This record gives sequence, structure tokens and C-alpha cells, in this order.
Amino acid sequence: MPNNNRTRMIAGNWKMNETYSEGVKLAQDLSNELKANPVDGVDVVVCPPAIDIKGVSGVIEFDHAPFALGAQNCYWEESGAYTGETAPNMLVDAGCTYCIIGHSERRGYFGETDEDVSKKAKALIAHDIVPILCCGESLEVREAGTHVSFVVAQIKAALSGVEIADGSKLVIAYEPIWAIGTGKTATADDAQEVCGAIRGALNDIYGADKADAIRVLYGGSAKPGNVAGFLSQPDVDGALVGGASLKAPDFAAMVEKAGE
Ligand code: PGA
Repeated sequence: MPNNNRTRMIAGNWKMNETYSEGVKLAQDLSNELKANPVDGVDVVVCPPAIDIKGVSGVIEFDHAPFALGAQNCYWEESGAYTGETAPNMLVDAGCTYCIIGHSERRGYFGETDEDVSKKAKALIAHDIVPILCCGESLEVREAGTHVSFVVAQIKAALSGVEIADGSKLVIAYEPIWAIGTGKTATADDAQEVCGAIRGALNDIYGADKADAIRVLYGGSAKPGNVAGFLSQPDVDGALVGGASLKAPDFAAMVEKAGE
């Protein structure tokens, strides 16, 4: 159990994995695992690829699956000639209540900037979708020892002009790029160092009352065997999970650890 008022969160980022039918099956398997071993007091979120969203939404609606639905990306405009993009109101209509933005893969492969992330955050919040805003440093920055100031600057830029009614309307995910999909995890102390600094930045931006309620997650090779160490840190409120979210028993085991 956390020693603060924040509800822990375990969020799965499926990335570009699972076809529509595979995604429905994975969601169904996860629902069965979580129902077989119910865990109270943890917010569970599943973020499938865009084409799987409606199928997973069906599993939530008809099977009462105990998790919320998130997207992996969105565009900031309401509608129009933006081929290939998805608007926030489309996510709402399909059942999403969360959306990952600013993931390092989108920043690295698709040129997403802090300014884009800020526009996306504002558009999502206007539609009452909670952004899961990602930040994190490269190996080069880590080795230069400037990771804390780098991540704080990233957060301040991405949240520029982003207003929230209360802290439950925003989630931050700290994901050091060198630990994503590599099997190399940051230590729990590494995660706390940066997540603590992020909370300091959130305090500066939103004031302590709102900042205290914003969840800060760790992500990067998080798995059943190491998640408890991260969760034991005062400023780590959960995990954003890539690879291990593709196996229902592993993901359910992480939810169970978060409930302990
Ligand atoms: P990973 O991915 O757990 O496979 O390292 C995490 C993420 O990129 O969100």
C-alpha cells in the first residue's frame, strides 16, 4: 500500500503489437486473470494500438473487465484534413479515458516535440482524457550526469500552458530511454532521484495541493520481479509497462504487487 494518498497505477503499453483479434484475446485473458485474483486500490490501464481500441473497449463493456482503456497517441485538432491521425473526441467515443503522449519512440522516430506534447495534453484535457505524459533521458545525457535537469526541463516545456482542474487529471511517466525494451532497468534509487525531481517541478507548476495528487510512474523494462522495488520509492506511484504487458499473467502479477 502506498504511504500517500495517490492510488497506484499499472499501465500497459502494447506498442505496435497484437492484431485486432489477438488484442481482443489478450484483453479477455487479462480480464480473466484479474478477476481470478481481484486486487483493490490499483488503477489498471491498457493502451492497445489504435485499431484494437474498439475491440478492447468491447471486452471492458461486455465482460466488465477491471481495467480502463487508453490510446498510445492522438492529434490535437478536433477534426479535418489530417490523414492518419486520431482526434481526442474519437478516443472518447471509443471508450478511452487515458492517452499516452510524448513517448520516447514517438519523439525519436516521429519527431514529436515538447510543443506537440503540450498541444496534445491540452486537447486531451479539454475532452476529459487523462494524458500519460512520458519523459526521459538518453544514455548520452545519463552518462553526462545531466539527466535530472534534462527531464525537469522536458516536463516544464511539455506542461507549458497546460491547466488541470486537479491532480487526478494528469499522469507522468518517467522512462529512461536506455532502459526501454533493453532489459536494462534503472535502479529503484535512480527512478526515485528523477521521479522526486519531477514532483518538485510539478509543485512549482501547479502548487503542492494539485501536485501531490499527480501520479508519477516509472517505465523501462519493468516486470513482475522488479516492480516492487520501484513502488517502494516515495515518488514512484506505479509503472508504465511495455514488453511485460503483452503477457496477461505477468501483467496481472504486476498489478498484484502494486496492491500489496
Ligand atoms: P518496456 O517498455 O517495458 O518494454 O521497456 C516501456 C515503455 O516503453 O513504455
